[in-house]
Amino acid sequence: MEKQKKKILCVGLVCLDIINVVEKYPEEDTDSRCLSQRWQRGGNASNSCTVLSLLGASCSFLGSLSAGPVAHFILEDFQKLHIDVSLVSEHAQCVLPASMVISNIRTGSRTILHMNRNLPDVTAADFSKVDLDQFQWIHWEGRNADEQVKMIERVAKHNSTLPQQQRITVSVEIEKTREPLYQLFPLGDVVFVSKDVAHHFGFESAEAAVRGFYSRVKPGAVLVCAWAEKGADALGPDDVVIHSDSFPPETLVDTLGAGDTFNAAVIFTLSNGGSLQDALTFGCRVAGRKCGFHGYDGIGEHFKDEENLKALN
Ligand code: ADP
Ligand code: FRU
Repeated sequence: MEKQKKKILCVGLVCLDIINVVEKYPEEDTDSRCLSQRWQRGGNASNSCTVLSLLGASCSFLGSLSAGPVAHFILEDFQKLHIDVSLVSEHAQCVLPASMVISNIRTGSRTILHMNRNLPDVTAADFSKVDLDQFQWIHWEGRNADEQVKMIERVAKHNSTLPQQQRITVSVEIEKTREPLYQLFPLGDVVFVSKDVAHHFGFESAEAAVRGFYSRVKPGAVLVCAWAEKGADALGPDDVVIHSDSFPPETLVDTLGAGDTFNAAVIFTLSNGGSLQDALTFGCRVAGRKCGFHGYDGIGEHFKDEENLKALN
């Protein structure tokens, strides 16, 4: 199979987002009404699959799921978006993680309260069942890093048997300030590091972050850092920092999943052979547009045809 016809796999969390849209952030210990309330499939890897699929990529999700009505809602939504879930492992006795989200329509801010009671993350043993030949790109949302290291080692071993152009590209996202996640830096061909992690290490801009962290990535890798309304920067082996400004929507409505959207659009462009500059610009355009409406549905109609074609040429 031609590399570009193969699928993109995202490994990480799927959860239920219960989104409360408010006109004003509530005071503690008050009783107020929301403008609207909705359930949405969430989780970084799951959201990135949504966006990849809306952009026209064929993709699979690998994560853990519970049983019961909430899991049903999640599975139906994956199917609606044509995301392959055949690798998902079901844990019948567990509760699906959920986030209560307060989404402020005036500022677009999203405040997340997340809970995972007992659903385990995907293990290297689960991953050993994945048929790697189906995939051109595998993205890991940094979570149970010790296990994820073993999964990525399996891909490295697989790649070592293949010619360069058939190798699976590995990307990792280091979003949370948790020490074990930092072992993922040297393992990705493309590494996404968050503003939060950058701040934690004392970097005050995306440029400072990509320069400061670059010694941690492997030779030849690309390091990407998104910085909300400031856009995003990236650094590759040629030592030139690439930048894209953000593309703010007319009205900022909902920033939930902006980072997951950005990651997906960057992966989409690079997996189609686009340049790093194209990838950053497209990432910021798609993520900026996403911030102008609730959820992700608006991405498809706007970008699918025009941008797909551009990215492929
Ligand atoms: P998250 O907090 O979801 O991880 P980031 O803050 O990393 O998201 O932003 C990812 C991308 O989304 C940014 O590079 C930018 O392109 C876009 N974005 C996020 N917030 C805004 C905003 N307020 N205005 C315009 N674009 C934004
Ligand atoms: C957005 C998101 C939400 C989820 C939360 C988990 O990036 O994936 O969908 O509730 O983060 O941390």
